[in-house]
Amino acid sequence: TVGTGKLEDVENIVEQALSLLKTGDGRQETGDKRQEPEDISGSLAPVSSLLSHVSDLAGENFLITVGGTREAIDPVRFISNHSSGKMGFAVAQAAAARGATVTVVAGVTTVPPPDGVHLIHAVSADEMHAVVINELKAATVFVGAAAVADYAPANPADSKIKKDGRDLMTLELRKTLDILNDVSLHRHEGLLVVGFAAETNDVVGYARSKMEKKGLDLVVANDITKAGAGFNTDTNIATILTRSGDEIELPLMSKREMADRILDEVLRLRQS
Ligand code: C5P
Repeated sequence: TVGTGKLEDVENIVEQALSLLKTGDGRQETGDKRQEPEDISGSLAPVSSLLSHVSDLAGENFLITVGGTREAIDPVRFISNHSSGKMGFAVAQAAAARGATVTVVAGVTTVPPPDGVHLIHAVSADEMHAVVINELKAATVFVGAAAVADYAPANPADSKIKKDGRDLMTLELRKTLDILNDVSLHRHEGLLVVGFAAETNDVVGYARSKMEKKGLDLVVANDITKAGAGFNTDTNIATILTRSGDEIELPLMSKREMADRILDEVLRLRQS
């Protein structure tokens, strides 16, 4: 499990194997005349669903926000949240593996980004908003997976705030721009808009009203109080709500697997 000889992360092995299967890598270059790979999808049940997806999102341009934002209080302090970026990166990785072009606008993340995506960094909600609006024209699917701060300090200090002589201090906050809402408001024809709703109670109810308020095509709702769901875990539990009224319950599964289930629904909306 550690050090030399540590088994590579199984999801990375699957990812690499899939990309080799897709490109037939190695055989043409070496002139090796080995047989074409057999259809192994039946014997590798969890992998077979991944194989069946290969390139079904070709032609789509995904724009995905990932991670948490940091809102400056002064040059050394900030307000942020526990987002790791795992769910958003999983969606980016899955979309790229299925043939889409992917641009990720990443805030603060605790895991490395996947290969094969165009990565742009944006630290604060305002920066993320500006980058997204700039990149939006080329997108065919927008996924708001970032945990964007809802409020930011109204007047961040230019120099470090001192504690001397103050037992109490008040921080005034202003509402940030809602990236997802603005994307939906200014959407061009054909753009599909996907949001996430992390809630602690009445999860589906809040998610459904978010979908209506923000004009979304699909919402992934999750109860972050459940074990194995939410921030900083490798797994998630969620309900996908679609604009056509469908409710798809996704039990505990890896975020990478969940990413494919979300993309299956995106594809279904595209084809409807
Ligand atoms: O309204 P709420 O913050 O719960 O909505 C969550 C969804 O909205 C997520 O998809 C998140 O990425 C997006 N969002 C955003 N900009 C904000 C706040 C939330 O894009 N300022």
